[in-house]
Amino acid sequence: MRILLLASAYNSLTQRVHAELRDRGHPVAVELALGDGRHLTEAVRRHAPDLLIAPMLTTAVPEEVWSRYPCLIVHPGPPGDRGPSSLDRAVQEGRDRWGVTVLQAVAEMDAGPVWASAEFPVPPGVGKSDLYRGELADAALKAVLLAVDRFTSGTYTPVTPPSHTWQPYLTQAERRIDWHTDPTETVLRKLRAADSQPGVLDTFLGTEWYLHGGHPEPHLKGAPGELLATRHGAICRATTDGAVWIPELRPKRVPGGPATFKLPAQPALEGRGEPREKPPTTRTKSTTGGSYSDITYEEKGTVGHLTFRFPGGAMSTAQCRRLLTAYRHARTRPTDVIVLGAKRDFFSNGIHLNVIEAAPDPAAESLANIEAIDDLVEEILTTTDRLVITALPGNSAAGGTMLALAADEVWCRRGAVLNPHYRLMGLYGSEYWTYTLPRKVGPALAARLTEEAQPLTATTAHSLGLVDRVIDCTPTEFAHEITRTADHLARSANLPARLGAKKAARERDEAVRPLSAYRAAELERMRAVFDDPAAPYHALRSAFVRKRRPDGTPDHLRTECPNGA
Ligand code: COA
Repeated sequence: MRILLLASAYNSLTQRVHAELRDRGHPVAVELALGDGRHLTEAVRRHAPDLLIAPMLTTAVPEEVWSRYPCLIVHPGPPGDRGPSSLDRAVQEGRDRWGVTVLQAVAEMDAGPVWASAEFPVPPGVGKSDLYRGELADAALKAVLLAVDRFTSGTYTPVTPPSHTWQPYLTQAERRIDWHTDPTETVLRKLRAADSQPGVLDTFLGTEWYLHGGHPEPHLKGAPGELLATRHGAICRATTDGAVWIPELRPKRVPGGPATFKLPAQPALEGRGEPREKPPTTRTKSTTGGSYSDITYEEKGTVGHLTFRFPGGAMSTAQCRRLLTAYRHARTRPTDVIVLGAKRDFFSNGIHLNVIEAAPDPAAESLANIEAIDDLVEEILTTTDRLVITALPGNSAAGGTMLALAADEVWCRRGAVLNPHYRLMGLYGSEYWTYTLPRKVGPALAARLTEEAQPLTATTAHSLGLVDRVIDCTPTEFAHEITRTADHLARSANLPARLGAKKAARERDEAVRPLSAYRAAELERMRAVFDDPAAPYHALRSAFVRKRRPDGTPDHLRTECPNGA
């Protein structure tokens, strides 16, 4: 079946659908819906697919397309639900279950007959984009694959739901937080429904900001709306009955002014009289005592779990340094295994492009960020007295994927998508990838993966040797599955032999070519890019953080690409 994916952006769900369909042997190409309807119609005619699928399309499919080609739309709501803010509304209304529907495109938006649908739970405390990349993506894949099977069978008749409910766009007026009346739970629901886009528009310290992300604070209290504390770049604001942590802010764009972008909240407020950093209560078992922290460390038996959650999977210089400090602390503890990873959502997407873009000297900040993430990778690579596992509940890309490869084993949730390449950001790459990637998959495949720049499912990544264990579970079950599997590993009888072999292998590799030589060679290539103002990296980074749409569909997506395996 020749499939063409139509998408407004090559986002996480589109990548996952693309990679999963390729895994099943379908030739799949992607066309971004960027220009007018004529451009899209022409592109579809050129591809002449058997089936069109739109995993994430924010514009209408032109009639010339849906009337000539079967076109299936993925709608993030249950059958009968219609409208552009379905998932936002589900989170804001506090639903505990939601659905996703694969329906046929017709003249009216989201009103076509249904080919397949799936339900999913909405776990408490989860933000919209995390839900979208987790439970919703799992359910969407199930529904898309079923719809493709039904379409292929030629015998299935899609079903029109008995009724439809049109839910309009969720406006900023409906999202607005009333700090004087909204209790913590309402504030959090509003923040989570707007996470990570569009954010909740709010005025404080004399400026209009979009607030991004929200976590509860169990102890601090103050006058509603008051800025109480900062921690790890996040700010804490009082509600009527408690307080919330907000990790990121984006200034409202001035009419006619340049596009603004998200930054860690505290640096974004720089110089505006923000309160002083309030460190978490440090304990060995849990570094936060229940309050917000983007890095936590916990021991279960002889396994140390070092967990981090950085918005968008981006790791700034400061975050890398704090994670390195926490990792060094973990190394001092009497454990046999360290598990490094996230509990849900992104593992890591490498250096923090927004923080770099906002820096007075982006070239210098790029280098500082790379050095900081390299220091962390080096620390992992030189840990020879215990096993290190990286745990990937969700997607990872670029330096974030290479960071994962520094561990002895990479454990990945089945629903994760991996992008082991840097080329699309105009970078050669660092994080010792020239050592770790060939070590995992051999030099020929390493060259192919970095050059082709295609997303991989966890299953394919496993078959290629990039991932060591695929964990088949829901996003909510992942942390428990990791704990259970790591405990099993820590108790295995051959652990001392494995550690001996690991130490010997590191010493052998160091004798052949020291880690410092890999780092120096990578950094030389990276420095040349950073220091050249005409290097594509600078324009690509600027476009990425400002979410500028590309001029056209990139060539590597247009071509029907064979399975990575
Ligand atoms: N720096 C800063 N922000 C980043 C980031 C990075 N390295 N990687 C992702 N993000 C942000 C995105 O801007 C987006 O922000 P939003 O929530 O405000 O929309 C959010 O994280 C989610 O990313 P998005 O692009 O929507 O997710 P995706 O799953 O559709 O795509 C990637 C994932 C990784 C392919 C894409 O984000 C990407 O190319 N990131 C850059 C990777 C990179 O080149 N890193 C630098 C080299 S080490």
